[in-house]
Amino acid sequence: MELFEAIKSRRSIRRYTSDPVDDKKVEAILEAGRWAPSWANTQCWRFMVVRDPEIKARVAETLSKIKLPDKVVDNPGANAIKTVPVLIVVCAEMGKSGGKPGSGGGGSEYITDKGDWFMFDTALAVQNMVLAAHAMGLGTVIIGAFDAVQAEKVLGVPEGYRVVTLFPVGVPDQEGKAPPRKELSEITVRDRWNK
Ligand SMILES: Cc1cc2nc3c(=O)[nH]c(=O)nc-3n(C[C@H](O)[C@H](O)[C@H](O)COP(=O)(O)O)c2cc1C
Repeated sequence: MELFEAIKSRRSIRRYTSDPVDDKKVEAILEAGRWAPSWANTQCWRFMVVRDPEIKARVAETLSKIKLPDKVVDNPGANAIKTVPVLIVVCAEMGKSGGKPGSGGGGSEYITDKGDWFMFDTALAVQNMVLAAHAMGLGTVIIGAFDAVQAEKVLGVPEGYRVVTLFPVGVPDQEGKAPPRKELSEITVRDRWNK
């Protein structure tokens, strides 16, 4: 699949068939993540592949209830996680991204006002991975609304690492519908704000 086509046609998929996803495809997805750029090439990401149905079900329970003004609803991605064959959990080693190149880590010496760049680095890897999955005909949905502390307990994540996000990988059982995007004119500034 051509890159621009993949970028534009990828959709969040929240319903999957029970078809299996073989390890070769999972490996290809992880490989796409591995080649993402990162702060000073620190590669703070760690990828977990979860196939165990019991662990998947326990992770699904960590998907927060979403509070709307008048009611509380389930995360729309929760069911997908229970039923899908593979879940990829993206963790980050904390204190590595954002430091002086070659210093071995940011720690207390982050060199920008943003501190630790782990969210940024892992997001780049995730985008590579969801696009790679899509290019192979597989669906994903990036999950951010969940109880990460609880997920870390369920997954046995060691100290110094955080779970950033997770996404199911499976054969889509729905046509993704594209939510509208803002026009370029609304999101692009040329030369300077408030000229
Ligand atoms: C950081 C992030 C967190 C997200 N968290 C959730 C989530 O918790 N549950 C969910 O169903 N979708 C989640 N999504 C998916 C977005 O709702 C979706 O990407 C957006 O509506 C655009 O739709 P599209 O992916 O089909 O283009 C998340 C996406 C991102 C980038």
